[in-house]
Amino acid sequence: MIDLRSDTLTKPTEAMRADMASAEVGDDVYGEDPTVNSLEAHVAELLGMEAGMFVSSGTQSNLCAILAHCQRGDEYLVGQSAHTYRYEAGGAAVLGGIQPQPIEMGPDGTIALADIERYIKPKPNMNHFANSKLLCLENTKDGAILPASYIADAQQLGRDHGLSLHLDGARLWNAAVGSGAAPAEIAAGFDTVSVCLSKGLGAPVGSVLVGRADLVDEARRWRKMLGGGMRQAGVLAAAGRHAVDHHVDRLADDHANAAKLAAGLAALDGIEVTGQNTNMVFMQRTTAAGTAPGLGEGDAFSSALEAQGVRAPGGTAMRLVCHLDVTADDIDTVIKAFGEALTA
Ligand SMILES: Cc1ncc(COP(=O)(O)O)c(C=O)c1O
Repeated sequence: MIDLRSDTLTKPTEAMRADMASAEVGDDVYGEDPTVNSLEAHVAELLGMEAGMFVSSGTQSNLCAILAHCQRGDEYLVGQSAHTYRYEAGGAAVLGGIQPQPIEMGPDGTIALADIERYIKPKPNMNHFANSKLLCLENTKDGAILPASYIADAQQLGRDHGLSLHLDGARLWNAAVGSGAAPAEIAAGFDTVSVCLSKGLGAPVGSVLVGRADLVDEARRWRKMLGGGMRQAGVLAAAGRHAVDHHVDRLADDHANAAKLAAGLAALDGIEVTGQNTNMVFMQRTTAAGTAPGLGEGDAFSSALEAQGVRAPGGTAMRLVCHLDVTADDIDTVIKAFGEALTA
């Protein structure tokens, strides 16, 4: 099955499994797992940061970061459709008493600077307001790479208002490969950055939170409180290290496959490609009249694709994601399957 629903669906390669099997391990809660320690130091160095912490997931990484930056009664400013607001179960509010201030985002992943400024709470706050403390950005956002000049301007605005800065860089690797910038250039200027190993890089588990040493220390306490202190986690960190060493440069293949997929789908009657950035393609199925069919039809369409060995999300608007387990030849199969499903 060629599964395009997400880049989290990859299976560890044989070589990755071999590295996991031979990993040297210790008790990481004691700080004694050499493979974890080495991964943390390596990713921190790659991203130009002082320290790193291996965590189970991107969600835990972002949560530990927000908890480290903010106190109860503080708020973080964040995009309306950012993962750290919309898709993390309200963790910062539930567990930290930290209020999110969601703000509309553009399709390119940016939040207008004027909107950020408008939503920062006045100081002195006359006791009315939460204390604006943190600005969170996301790069890539739905595959889109944030422009470097935008990041610099948003960071400056944040600094001018005394905010600290966190980047959800779950797919920072794609931003680096897609833009040609070094990972450290993309991470520069943030106080903390979360990167995932289990998305495009193909590790089964894991993220690394990097940043200022004092913040990572504080985040480590929160990780323990959240039940995220793992013991012989080197078997997992070894997969992450393998991913970082072997699967970053090849993201260019995923980006090329996504471009090929977008072009192939755009040529089909009944499909409008609405966007393609790095490893993601967004498309909309249209009827002859140019309107989208109803929800139920989306499921029938997905079933028709599945019958041809292609798994995609249901609905008429789809996000298709290229990853380690999708080859250039698979893209030909996918385009053919879409063509046939459209006429089924
Ligand atoms: C942009 C972004 N941030 C964070 C996460 C959370 O990662 P995890 O699923 O490992 O918790 C995801 C997950 O897909 C994501 O897409």
